Amino acid sequence: MPYPKGLTVRPVRNGHGIVALKNFKAGAFICEIKGQIVTPQTVWRYWETDPRRGANCFRSSPERYLDPEGEIGAYANHSCNPNAGIVKQGRKLLLKAITPIARGDEVTHDYSTLLGTDDVWRMCCNCGAANCRRVVKTAAALPAAALARYRKLRVIPAFIDVMLR
Ligand SMILES: C[S@@+](CC[C@H](N)C(=O)[O-])C[C@H]1O[C@@H](n2cnc3c(N)ncnc32)[C@H](O)[C@@H]1O
Ligand SMILES: [Zn+2]
Repeated sequence: MPYPKGLTVRPVRNGHGIVALKNFKAGAFICEIKGQIVTPQTVWRYWETDPRRGANCFRSSPERYLDPEGEIGAYANHSCNPNAGIVKQGRKLLLKAITPIARGDEVTHDYSTLLGTDDVWRMCCNCGAANCRRVVKTAAALPAAALARYRKLRVIPAFIDVMLR
């Protein structure tokens, strides 16, 4: 798979991750998260047959997920202090910088921003950030300050945010 311009995949703290090959300014577009749109039933099936693949899926709408298998999104790791976020534009999921990202930095986003109140997936976190939440849960469990910041940065998609109000 050719990686999007300015990005590569390398071994990082948590397995393999996306690494910047150039500097990105805060607010810059990094890449589109591409993949196959699948139903919640397909994601449930992955849990039984290929849990890794199930865990990799991005929620893309109330009733759909995006399976990034074979694409760079399959290497997008979580951080509780991320330098990027997912912005939904039309039907697309775009990875955007939320802080300046330097060449050589791992590009991470906060998985909770795409976990609705009806998502049951949890992850024990090993991001190493000072503000690590230890367990990654739904957007509803985000600390108030983090939620407010993500809202301001527009990295909580509307279909997730509506579940929080
Ligand atoms: C989209 S994949 C990312 C690529 C993965 N690191 C690999 O090497 O294949 C998501 C998986 O990476 C791991 N992961 C990502 N961020 C993590 C974190 N902050 N702490 C612990 N594991 C993490 C979890 O196993 C998660 O299900
Ligand atoms: Zn963490």
